Amino acid sequence: MKKILITGGAGFIGSHVVRLFVNKYPNYEIVNLDKLTYAGNLANLKDIENKSNYSFVKGDIVDAAFINELFSKNKFDAVIHLAAESHVDRSITNPLEFLMTNVIGTVNLLNAAKNEWKDNFSAHRFYHVSTDEVYGTLGETGLFTETTSYDPHSPYSASKASSDHFVRAYHDTYGLDAVISNCSNNYGSYHFPEKLIPLSIYNIKNNKSIPIYGKGENIRDWLFVEDHARAIDVIFHNAKAGTTYNIGGHNEWTNIDLIHLLCKIMDKKLNRPEGKSAELITYVKDRAGHDMRYAIDSSKLQKELGWTPSLQFEEGLERTVDWYLANEEWLNNVTSGDYKKYYEQQYVKR
Ligand code: NAD
Ligand code: DAU
Repeated sequence: MKKILITGGAGFIGSHVVRLFVNKYPNYEIVNLDKLTYAGNLANLKDIENKSNYSFVKGDIVDAAFINELFSKNKFDAVIHLAAESHVDRSITNPLEFLMTNVIGTVNLLNAAKNEWKDNFSAHRFYHVSTDEVYGTLGETGLFTETTSYDPHSPYSASKASSDHFVRAYHDTYGLDAVISNCSNNYGSYHFPEKLIPLSIYNIKNNKSIPIYGKGENIRDWLFVEDHARAIDVIFHNAKAGTTYNIGGHNEWTNIDLIHLLCKIMDKKLNRPEGKSAELITYVKDRAGHDMRYAIDSSKLQKELGWTPSLQFEEGLERTVDWYLANEEWLNNVTSGDYKKYYEQQYVKR
């Protein structure tokens, strides 16, 4: 029997992690703590919300008093921490929000865990979910490994890098059992349509232009979100205290090639003539400080813990498109209201 606090469980990746743990471990009690920002959505968890080993708490990790009380009341065995502000473009317009949630919020959780668990660190675990963006950007060759120096460029990646350093500091200074994973770009169901793939699916479906930053030559290494959730499961249960694992799909795509593949899949699914969706591609002003290339070496995770990605990209992308087309109501709900304001500021007024 374990009681696990998962933060950010109503978001994209968090909802897949919550679902996996609730279904796979009926003896674990999963508590999902989420502020329900624009990115958090309880509809992402409809299928498991009534399970007896699941509960939801609405709250803000920036509120230290609330976090301390939650820890002292609940006697958690472990934390899997995903709550974060996660969108690079929003971090460029509002860096302070990223500092507050990603750094202060993480330190609040670390403090509460340290205070509650100090008499027996080895019976508890703090798992921090991080990103490959902390390593900065690559040239044409090479891969990020676990020993690549940190070199963040955006306010988002700077805040994630800082939170990683705090997690390591709490392990090294106080003895907290902490593990970190740094993952590449995820894609799949329940992905908020501010990120490249779901935004493009939404726009293609609605015959709106597909905004490509700069020349579309930037490269990302895409991983199916359910493979990330499986990796988190494996690392959570098997990693040694104080270790870090990189997670990635060995699946590099330039943005423009990816969008052409997506357009081809969408033409087929929407019964449009081949080439029709690609007419929507529009080059727009580049993202400030836009990292050129990310690519992950996940061989440590593969060799030590036996994890491998399960899906080829084209199959995963097709499954993702099918999900969005079958879940029109979800997509319409998350793109009403504030989304329109955001879209206007980010794309129309640039
Ligand atoms: P997301 O934006 O979809 O979800 C974030 C969740 O955190 C939301 O449910 C939101 O309501 C919640 N949240 C935000 N601020 C909060 C606060 N102050 N208190 C409590 N809850 C709060 O993000 P995601 O894409 O699912 O990313 C989850 C984690 O994984 C993040 O830590 C991110 O840095 C990391 N990550 C993401 C990717 C990716 O490709 N999306 C890749 C690697 C790592
Ligand atoms: O690498 C992991 C990271 O991946 C995570 O830590 C972040 O939380 C996650 O948001 C993601 O960051 P990116 O900035 O790589 O993802 P995004 O989907 O915003 O952009 C992917 C690429 O597509 C990037 O090169 C910018 C480009 N892009 C993005 C948008 C939203 C466009 O060309 N047009 C767009 O409209």
